[in-house]
Order: sequence, then structure tokens, then C-alpha cells
Amino acid sequence: MLTVGLVGKRAGSFVAGLQSLPEVRIVAVCELSTEALERLAGRADVPAGGQFTHYDDLLERARPDLVILGTPMHLHVPQAIQALDLGIHALSEVTAAVDLDQCRQLVAAVRRSRAHYMMAENACYRKAAMLVRALAHEGLFGRCYFAEGEYLHDVKQLHHFPDGPPTWRATWQVGKRGCTYGTHSLGPALEFFGPEARVTSVSCMGSGIHTDPEHPHDDTCIMLCQLNVGGVIKVRLDMMSNRPHNQAYQALQGTKGCYEAPRGFGDDHKVWLGGDAASDPRARREWRSLWDYADEFLPEPWRSLGNDAARAGHGGGDYFVVRDFVQAILHGRTPPIDVYRAMDYTVPGLISEQSIVQGGVPLPVPDFREVA
Ligand SMILES: NC(=O)c1ccc[n+]([C@@H]2O[C@H](COP(=O)([O-])OP(=O)(O)OC[C@H]3O[C@@H](n4cnc5c(N)ncnc54)[C@H](O)[C@@H]3O)[C@@H](O)[C@H]2O)c1
Repeated sequence: MLTVGLVGKRAGSFVAGLQSLPEVRIVAVCELSTEALERLAGRADVPAGGQFTHYDDLLERARPDLVILGTPMHLHVPQAIQALDLGIHALSEVTAAVDLDQCRQLVAAVRRSRAHYMMAENACYRKAAMLVRALAHEGLFGRCYFAEGEYLHDVKQLHHFPDGPPTWRATWQVGKRGCTYGTHSLGPALEFFGPEARVTSVSCMGSGIHTDPEHPHDDTCIMLCQLNVGGVIKVRLDMMSNRPHNQAYQALQGTKGCYEAPRGFGDDHKVWLGGDAASDPRARREWRSLWDYADEFLPEPWRSLGNDAARAGHGGGDYFVVRDFVQAILHGRTPPIDVYRAMDYTVPGLISEQSIVQGGVPLPVPDFREVA
């Protein structure tokens, strides 16, 4: 039996995935806000004895085997380190860290701990992202050389509490320039290129500040990522612009085919897989639905558990993230998004913060596998 503590109300999104696993029991919840604590406890069915308003108390008194950190971004690293140093596994919300110093501290803590760490990048587990990844790894796009990801989500209303003071987002997401929240876009795009793919250098430019003069964050920020496997990824982050949301746009181009996610207004996921016909100028260049390829290529978790995952919300990602982490712990396997993969998704955004203030100059991205 693996006991779990949920920290921060967002950790409630993982309840359905946890409850689908017979080896798991949620024993504790922690929230600073007593109202949010009550809702979280109700959602996870945790009695009063397992409810805490301080993280230290949850760790000491409930002593779960695993904590799920759904707290503000700057708390992920200190809270993960506290757990790891007690031998408690940690599943952290995105992004993994808010600066390079935190990255170094987190990697060191994972190295010295017997417990596992994983970053919960649910975007990598969306149905379309997993199917496109499977097609890419089967070689159906040929050699991949370009991918895109966009996170377009006007969250200006989340930068202040209803009574006025700034929230954590005002500091860590829009209190500085650069691609401060890029992992939802970069994670799935990197995985299209394969598990060895990582970003070696980053160049970042901004649109300037137009709709929200209070914060020093560009309305749109573009991060260009050069890859070690050849190719480039373009990430657009926009948490300001007045427009409909699209938090999951991705695209992929290879030598034999391409994929584009919907941009809304009735659009759907689509691919063109020219195959050998790609070299034939008379070949038909018409889109097909991505879902035409699901029968043959949809990966297993979505095949047998897709309906349950979809019901759990957030595109099913949270459901599979937590199941994968628990299964890695129970079977002693390396988690799919371990601390190094978490760095591969997070560090380019942190380097982009330096690039954008230097006018977009390309800067190298350290590989934390090699950082002492
Ligand atoms: N993966 C996704 O799809 C996704 C979606 C939303 C948010 N997030 C991430 O989840 C995290 C939380 O985001 P949110 O939108 O819920 O933020 P939020 O500001 O709405 O909520 C944060 C909550 O954390 C609580 N909290 C703060 N410090 C705490 C502490 N020390 N111990 C316990 N609880 C504490 C607050 O009381 C608050 O209820 C962020 O890291 C964000 O990036 C991820």
C-alpha cells in the first residue's frame, strides 16, 4: 500500500487517477486556505485527522509515502526537497523550478534521496500528444525537424486576489520577461523528437507590453529552441492577450509528413503523411483526421482507460501522470519525467529569461545530467 498526501488545491486534480489504483490510499491533505482545505478533503475523502494547514505537519504527522505538490510554482522545489530528504516520493506540478539555483538544489536532493521525483507535465499525456508521439516514433513523419507549441491563456484576472494583493502568478509568471510557463508546450514537442532530444540553445523575443502595463511581461513571448538531435522548436507563450484560449496547440513537421492541432472554430487534429508519395509532386496533399490512425497506433493507456481518463478532466493528462508515477515507484522504475527530463522541459524557459533581456541572443542550455 502506498499512502499519499495532497498539497495545494490543484493536487485534487489527481484524485481520480489515484483512486483508480488499488495499491494507493490518500491519507492526508494540506491547504493554507481553510475553505480550499475543506473542498480538497471532501474531494479526496480524507477525514479530519488527515487535514492540515501546514506542510510540515502533514510530513511529520501523516508521514505519507508520496506527496503531490499542487502549490504555487516557487514552492515546488523547497517542498519537494523537504519530502525527498525524508525519503518521501514527490510528484511536482509544473514548472519544476523558478530559477537555476532551485534547479541545482532539486537535482542534488534527488541524487541524495532514496525516493523518486517526477514532474507532472500532463500535456505530454493528452490523447493527441501521445498518438502523434507514437506516429513520430514509428517514423511516419520521416525525419522530424520542426515542432511548435503554444499556450495562449488570458489569465490577467488571476494576477490579483479579489481583494487586491498580487498572487504568486504576478511574481513568477508575469513579474519578469521570458518564457516563464513553457513546459506545457515544450514537453510534448520535445517528446515528438524522442526521449534523447533536448534543447541545447535558446533565443527569446517579446512583443512588448500592450494589454497589461502593470507587469513587465510581454503580451506574447516567442522562444526558439535548437535541439541536440537536429531541428528546432518554436514556443509561443501568451498569458495576456484579449482572445479565445488555446492552451494546447502543437504542430510537427518531418521529411514525410506533418501534424497540426486545432486552433478552434470547428478545427480538429489533422495529419498529412505523404510517405513515399512525398517525393512525388503530383501526390495529393490533403489533410486526414489524426484519429484515423488511432486504431492502429494509439498507445495502451489511452486504449483501455481512455474513457476513465477523459472523465477525470484536463484532457486526461492528470489521470495518466499520477498512474505512471505510482507504477514507477511500485515497480522500482525510473519515472517517465524524472528530474533530468523535468530539467529538459523547464531550464530552456529559465534561460529564455536571460536571452530576452539581451535582445534575443542565443544562449546555451545546460544539461543537468552533467552538472555536478
Ligand atoms: N498542469 C496543469 O494543467 C496546471 C493547471 C493549473 C495550475 N497548475 C500549476 O499548479 C500550481 C497551482 O496553481 P493554481 O492555479 O492552483 O494556483 P492558485 O493560486 O489558484 O492556488 C494555489 C493554492 O495553493 C495554496 N497554498 C499556497 N501555499 C501553500 C502551502 N505552503 N501549503 C499548502 N497550500 C498552499 C493556496 O492556499 C492556494 O489555494 C502551480 O504550480 C501551477 O503552475 C498546473
